[in-house]
Amino acid sequence: MKYRIESKAQYQTFYNNSLEDREAYWSERAETYEWFKKWDKVQSGNFNELNVKWFEGGQTNITVNALDRHVKNHPNKTAILWEPNDPNGETKTFTYKELLEEVNRFANVLKDQGVQKGDRVCFYMSMVPELLTGVLACARIGAVHSVVFGGFSAKALAGRVIDCEAKVVVTNDQAYRGSKTIELKEITNEALKECASVKSVLCLRHTGAKVEMIEGRDLWLNDLLRSASTECDPEKMNSEDPLFILYTSGSTGKPKGLQHTTAGYMLWAAETFKNIFQMGDDDIYWCSADIGWITGHSYIAYGPLLNGNTQVMFEGIPTYPDSGRFWDVIEKYKVSHFYTAPTAIRALQACDIELVNRADLSSLKVLGTVGEPINVEAWTWYNEEIGKKKCPIVDTWWQTETGGIMISSLAGVTESIPCFATLPQPAIKPVLVDTDGREIQSNPAEGNLCIEFPWPGMARTIYGDHERYRQTYFSTYPGKYFTGDGAKRDADGNYRITGRVDDVVNISGHRIGTAEVEDAIDEHESIVESAVIGIPHEIKGEALMGFMIPTNKDANSKEILKKVNELITEEIGPIAKLDRAIIVPELPKTRSGKIMRRVLRKIASNELDSLGDTSTLLNPEIVDVIIEAMRSES
Ligand code: WT7
Repeated sequence: MKYRIESKAQYQTFYNNSLEDREAYWSERAETYEWFKKWDKVQSGNFNELNVKWFEGGQTNITVNALDRHVKNHPNKTAILWEPNDPNGETKTFTYKELLEEVNRFANVLKDQGVQKGDRVCFYMSMVPELLTGVLACARIGAVHSVVFGGFSAKALAGRVIDCEAKVVVTNDQAYRGSKTIELKEITNEALKECASVKSVLCLRHTGAKVEMIEGRDLWLNDLLRSASTECDPEKMNSEDPLFILYTSGSTGKPKGLQHTTAGYMLWAAETFKNIFQMGDDDIYWCSADIGWITGHSYIAYGPLLNGNTQVMFEGIPTYPDSGRFWDVIEKYKVSHFYTAPTAIRALQACDIELVNRADLSSLKVLGTVGEPINVEAWTWYNEEIGKKKCPIVDTWWQTETGGIMISSLAGVTESIPCFATLPQPAIKPVLVDTDGREIQSNPAEGNLCIEFPWPGMARTIYGDHERYRQTYFSTYPGKYFTGDGAKRDADGNYRITGRVDDVVNISGHRIGTAEVEDAIDEHESIVESAVIGIPHEIKGEALMGFMIPTNKDANSKEILKKVNELITEEIGPIAKLDRAIIVPELPKTRSGKIMRRVLRKIASNELDSLGDTSTLLNPEIVDVIIEAMRSES
């Protein structure tokens, strides 16, 4: 395998060389992919001007590298093993050749709907094979995909469709989710009442439920796919042409549409997957994420396919029909490489160990985690009960913005250390800075995590708002990309991510901006103002707690919580619901009127000794009132 890092010494050499001459490093890697036209310049631009470009002048298509390239060498190798929600349901298998044919069919369907290079196509689907082929079909013809996770509400979907001005929306009649079904088409119909840009809706018949189809707008995807041709020439894409937009939450305002481009993202997804997971030709990979999140983009839709590997794609949830499902799926497909989130590990750790032990997990070789800091208990359980102490664990730190993994050990090649993401990938230079923006050079160290140089997989902009992109990531520490995370570095240079240092909360690995939740709550007629914070949660990592000023002083907090959660479910989706609500007469504010969430966090975690100086507050007396309100609630 060309250029796969296979020893610690080689990692060191690659890492040092890559930092010395990033262009030479990436140019050599890029040579191993297929291009219609070679690039003129490996990289240009910088973080100050925020005009980063990779492989300018080059032309490629990511699907040629993910599909055609492998079809040439091993057409009958399995690409996808699809496991349905129902364990007794019909499974589906796609070889690389079959997957390419399905992608081409879908690409032709999109073309027939008038979708052209650069047009946006929105997907609001469950984990059906058509979500994967649809995304790749967009890439085939140069359309920009924007996948919206099927757990978001109609309003959240509408906001994203409007923001990216999608021409086509693809959905299914319903999604299966454990013993429940989710009304994807109905929610889509609701959302699209406000979306003028959408010309057609392609609906996959999946559960067979009767759904409302709107004449002149809606078509059954199954019928169109069946009659479409299995051949479709790949569009010649310029390196910097957009590949997809994916929305994520930040500390302020509405969700941001991070835009990723073709060639740089392709290299990043492919190279990180190869080096970190270290898959053999006959190995079977399974990432339990949903394609609606960045993990599903880079490490389901793209990374494994770019490397020609075989993977399981799972429609269901970890708790259906019981909490042994993950382990049963691993046994069924002889999964060797398993990638999941700490929240799932913690939830399954709390279940009867017999659910693990009834499954034969001997096929496992490598385990991965992603999405949030993993606590030592969960790490140890994963290592001992699932990996039987023989599988290296890769704790992979990255973000929607980074396009792919930035800091992680390489399975079996560099050392796994409990709760440490460990070392940066080649050509990545993490830096820790103090609150004054000074770089901390010495080890050990703790500070805010920034990245020093541009890398190929980084998002290039926020769709339609480059200035917001600069403000959010490049203004806090000029010249550096600021991640929003805090981190520690040990004496050997290993990184441990400590969590967000901004107003972003990580619930079960899903990013929620507290401002977004507050905006939703404040729409409620019986709430004057609210402040939302993250509090530690045993399973979910973090949960949301709201401090609320009701219009009616005698309001009951249980009732308020229920009402507010109904509203949040409507505005954002059930993942952003509050776990706890406290009624307060006022919120602690600075003299300039900013809510002091730090004070609320301290009160919520009962760290009253470290409240700090509250005398500078506009209303210092409110602190004791809130402490009292918390006590009487619990
Ligand atoms: C945030 C990014 C990256 C794909 C899934 C989430 C947190 C991510 C780790 C890890 C500790 C992690 C960070 C980051 N995070 N991976 N291995 N250890 N924290 O993507 O929704 O863009 O969220 O997830 O806080 O900033 P995302």
